[in-house]
Amino acid sequence: MQTIDWVDGAVEIIDQTVLPKEVRILRLHTVPALVTAIQSLAVRGAPALGVAGAFGVALAAQVHADDPAALAAAVERLEHARPTAVNLARGVRRVAALLPQGPAAVLAEACRVRDEEIAASEAMARRGADLMIELCGKRSRLLTHCNTGALAAVVLGTALGVVRELHHRGVLAGVIASETRPLLQGARLTAWELGRWGIEHRVAVDSAGPFLMARGEVDGVILGADRICANGDVINKIGTYSHALGARRAGLPFVVVAPESTVDLNTPSGDVVPIEDRGSAEVTPWSEAVNPAFDVTPRDLVTAIVTDRRVIRLDQGERP
Ligand code: MRU
Repeated sequence: MQTIDWVDGAVEIIDQTVLPKEVRILRLHTVPALVTAIQSLAVRGAPALGVAGAFGVALAAQVHADDPAALAAAVERLEHARPTAVNLARGVRRVAALLPQGPAAVLAEACRVRDEEIAASEAMARRGADLMIELCGKRSRLLTHCNTGALAAVVLGTALGVVRELHHRGVLAGVIASETRPLLQGARLTAWELGRWGIEHRVAVDSAGPFLMARGEVDGVILGADRICANGDVINKIGTYSHALGARRAGLPFVVVAPESTVDLNTPSGDVVPIEDRGSAEVTPWSEAVNPAFDVTPRDLVTAIVTDRRVIRLDQGERP
């Protein structure tokens, strides 16, 4: 399963808004259609957003070849479609740098972004599995939050790719996927992916995680990131911070898995990262709501960050 690709001059994505009821492919020919897909979370997850941004510039180059002003406006719109995951703006800027060389060069670079994310998933799965065995032992019960599978990262995924690798090595004793309010990336998407991979799992309401850890039902927490700051602070789906606090209280490893494309050395710490607020309607029709889509987990609550190139042991004083 590949969540996003370039097919015959258009971007094709699996529409994540209708999963798990339906597997629907959306074919997107224009930047406004892609921006709508990004903002509605039809395509989502940091690495997949980087690839979406990259392919979006290829779409723009194709559609606006003779109109530099329209091209610049389309690139700008893509770059800011969502603010928090650094991968989106980074994918857009990397590919936009090739615009002076024409649409073919732009598309080739966008395909390289896709291919690098695929290779990164495979590298993270191996390295992350080695680390989890070291930290949690050979029969581990893991808790994960949000969705970090193939749907979030082209193929395989980040943290969920590690979970699948542990399953393949025969050392996984169960997975708890938090439901991930309000859009249910855990209950809808992670549970669906784990089911397809034949991995035993249960969904827990978000607020249950720390209690399940305290009750001894979890050996480690593993999840992804939307941005990793220079000081090691981790920005990820809202609820990550409370799971990190629960893990610290229970003395459990708290491991973040993300490609190097999510490490942002230009952002010194979590307090300066723009946190998307998705408004009230997603949460409740009865009241004004506060709906931050992400939170900041301070580096001192994180045991380690696994990327496609390295393991950063924050618990041993290492920094990205
Ligand atoms: O709002 P979303 O669904 O795009 O948020 C996604 C997450 O927070 C993921 O945990 C993160 O992008 C890592 S995906 C491999």
